[in-house]
Parts: sequence; C-alpha cells; structure tokens
Amino acid sequence: MLRRHREFLAPWEPLREESYFTVAGQRADIAAVLVRYERGDAVPLVILDDGTIAGRLTLNGVVRGPFQSCSMGYWLAEDRTGRGLATQAVQAAVSLAFSELGLHRVQAETLTSNAASRRVLAKAGFQEYGLAPRYLKIAGVWQDHVMYQRLNEQSG
Ligand SMILES: CC(C)(COP(=O)(O)OP(=O)(O)OC[C@H]1O[C@@H](n2cnc3c(N)ncnc32)[C@H](O)[C@@H]1OP(=O)(O)O)[C@@H](O)C(=O)NCCC(=O)NCCS
Repeated sequence: MLRRHREFLAPWEPLREESYFTVAGQRADIAAVLVRYERGDAVPLVILDDGTIAGRLTLNGVVRGPFQSCSMGYWLAEDRTGRGLATQAVQAAVSLAFSELGLHRVQAETLTSNAASRRVLAKAGFQEYGLAPRYLKIAGVWQDHVMYQRLNEQSG
C-alpha cells in the first residue's frame, strides 16, 4: 500500500530510505513501534475500511507525569479518502487516548497547506493553538506546522 501511494503521501511525509518501501523494511518499522508500544511510549493502529486495512494512525510520544500527552499522526490510501474515514479514525483514537490511556491531551500538527488534514482535525474537535516555525523535516525540508490540540474535558 505504501508503495502504491508513495507519490500521494510524499509531500506530507519525511524522506524515507528505499528499504522503507520493502516488506523487510515494513517488518522492521512495525517491530520497532511495537517495542515502543510495550514501553508505553506509542500506540500503533491501523485504520480499517469494512475490515480491510486502509491506512495507519499512530499515537506517538506518550509522556506521563504532569504532561499526560501524546502526538498523533495518520495517513490513508488515496483511494480511501473523501469518505470521512480519517475523521472517524481520529475520533476513535482520541477516545482511546482519553479512556484507555487516561491522557489529558492529544496533539497533532499539519503543514499549513494540508487543507484536508486541517479539516479532519477541526471536525474532530481539535483547537488550533499556534504556528511552529520549521517544526518538522517533511519531504526533505524543515517546514512550518500548524499546531492543534484536543484536551480531555474529563481529566481531573
Ligand atoms: C488527510 C487525510 C488523512 C484525510 O483523509 P479523509 O478520510 O479524506 O478525511 P475526511 O474525509 O475525514 O475529511 C476530509 C475533509 O477535508 C476536506 N478536504 C479534502 N481536500 C481538501 C482540500 N484540498 N481543500 C479543502 N478541504 C479539503 C473534505 O471535503 C473533508 O471535509 P468535509 O467533511 O467538511 O467535506 C488523507 O487525505 C491523507 O492520508 N493524506 C495524506 C497524508 C496526510 O496528509 N496525513 C496527515 C498529515 S498531518
């Protein structure tokens, strides 16, 4: 799927080694995130469309203590877009973060030009709270990002 949608995803992703687009590379990537999951640092999820894998969503950088926060990233196969799937997945992941993980905050960040992702976050109740200059190296360039967060109204 990543190979098929490589061009579609490229503007929104870090530059990847060629090995990332191989079965072995994906096995290694998944094994590494499962180690982070075992440590409680991340929660890797797949986005299902009628039981078929349509993309991925990961809760990264889970920090406890006074922060109780994580950062969310996601992508879909191009032919699965435009049907509300990402919005549903983001809402489900936020529920998981707040209920099962007991977190206080979920962060997400997008390129200013990523209108679809910005709309997804707005629909899922995220608030835009700032612009981070040259925040992430996306498509090989340090790029400004719009910062979003959703807070857990139930957290004590
Ligand atoms: C961003 C992405 C996850 C959206 O997935 P999706 O399932 O199509 O999202 P949804 O259908 O839930 O919502 C998309 C919304 O954006 C809107 N939208 C899509 N393209 C748009 C554009 N170019 N300009 C303005 N709005 C746009 C849609 O109309 C929809 O809003 P609406 O429900 O009010 O009509 C998907 O396009 C993707 O994987 N993109 C590449 C990777 C990526 O950008 N990941 C996020 C990095 S922060």
